[in-house]
Amino acid sequence: MDHFNYRDGLLYAEEVPLEQIAEDYGTPCYVYSKATLTRHFRAYTDALGSHPHLICYAVKANSNIAVLGLLAKLGAGFDIVSVGELERVLKAGGDPAKVVFSGVAKQAHEMARALDVGIKCFNVESRPELERLNAVAGERGQVAPVSLRVNPDVDAGTHPYISTGLKDNKFGIPIDDALAVYELAASLPNLQVKGLDCHIGSQLTETAPFLDALERLLMLMERLRERGIEIDHLDLGGGLGVPYRDETPPHPFDYASQLLARLSRWEGGERLTLLFEPGRSIAANAGVMLTRVEFLKPGETKNFAIVDAAMNDLIRPALYQAWQAIVPVDTRPVRETAIYDVVGPVCETGDFLGQERELAIAPGDLLAVRSAGAYGFVMASNYNSRPRPAEVMVDGEHCYVVRARETLESLWAGEALLPEGAC
Ligand code: LLP
Repeated sequence: MDHFNYRDGLLYAEEVPLEQIAEDYGTPCYVYSKATLTRHFRAYTDALGSHPHLICYAVKANSNIAVLGLLAKLGAGFDIVSVGELERVLKAGGDPAKVVFSGVAKQAHEMARALDVGIKCFNVESRPELERLNAVAGERGQVAPVSLRVNPDVDAGTHPYISTGLKDNKFGIPIDDALAVYELAASLPNLQVKGLDCHIGSQLTETAPFLDALERLLMLMERLRERGIEIDHLDLGGGLGVPYRDETPPHPFDYASQLLARLSRWEGGERLTLLFEPGRSIAANAGVMLTRVEFLKPGETKNFAIVDAAMNDLIRPALYQAWQAIVPVDTRPVRETAIYDVVGPVCETGDFLGQERELAIAPGDLLAVRSAGAYGFVMASNYNSRPRPAEVMVDGEHCYVVRARETLESLWAGEALLPEGAC
């Protein structure tokens, strides 16, 4: 459930009409709801109740510092994949002791910074990474807390680009090699084994793959125990899906209760701290992208609604053929209904936000692309020299610009002409 609802035919974000936001801040524009972010975060903490846990929000989903700051205040930890994400978390007031660091190619300087600020754990994805981390920690006279990201080889049943737990994905250590790599980790002087980690994919709509993965991880933990390697926390990654259209993903409560039921039958399960790295399920339906219709262009085989947002602002439809609802912000005017491809100004045939959508619209109308709070702005680019949109956070009846629309000058900031006479 989210806080974007119609009242008397007008779409609101909490107590604010989206039309007002478009007028005040222009389009395209991302709008986030503080109440929705809060609600989605609390769904996880409530679901886990008194079981020891830490919800490490996946920063990559929406890394605006206002979003991170809000989640930090709610007690969130963070899952990061770069030093840039780490600095954002720190800037937002996040607690480094609640940060886990994922990613297949952490650089030495990123490891060093993470050690200096005292993160909770490095989710290590390969043997060479383990050796690099041991060396970096050793040079600094520190001991790095580690978890191995194991690839459990389960099919998450999701889009191939966002499935990460299969043998032929680049992620994690194959489960059959994990024992040997844990033994190596335990033998290295500057590492301390803390946890076990996996992340099998994103936008999962069933709990079965998570439970399959858990089963395999518990088996591994038993074998580790036999070798005297104790695990304090189990990190099950992110991946819980959201309803974009007619999907019915499990609620965090169902997901957590199935996991807890399994753990209660496992020796020591009630003491095992659970970590989660949700991104999409917290942020996606806490955001919309507002865009205005520029022209309607009827064609022989297709009608186009050309809007002022494009694939550079929201790339999911173009990149994954992802379906996101596109709805009018004001449903009151009487308009003729037609089927449109909703396309942007970018010079690519793949530049669409939605295809074959039934809409009753006219030029100048505002549309909201829903479920745009995760993997929306963060994946935006300046392609076609388009400044990236503004981001606005709504809190009740208040609106805050949490990222100003980029200026034209910012497009070439950092660039330089060749010196006179160089060419
Ligand atoms: N942890 C790790 C290690 C991850 O790689 C990811 C996402 C997450 C957590 C968060 O997963 P979530 O709860 O959001 O499913 N750009 C794609 C999604 C890429 C997800 C990458 N990894 C999209 O727009 O659908």
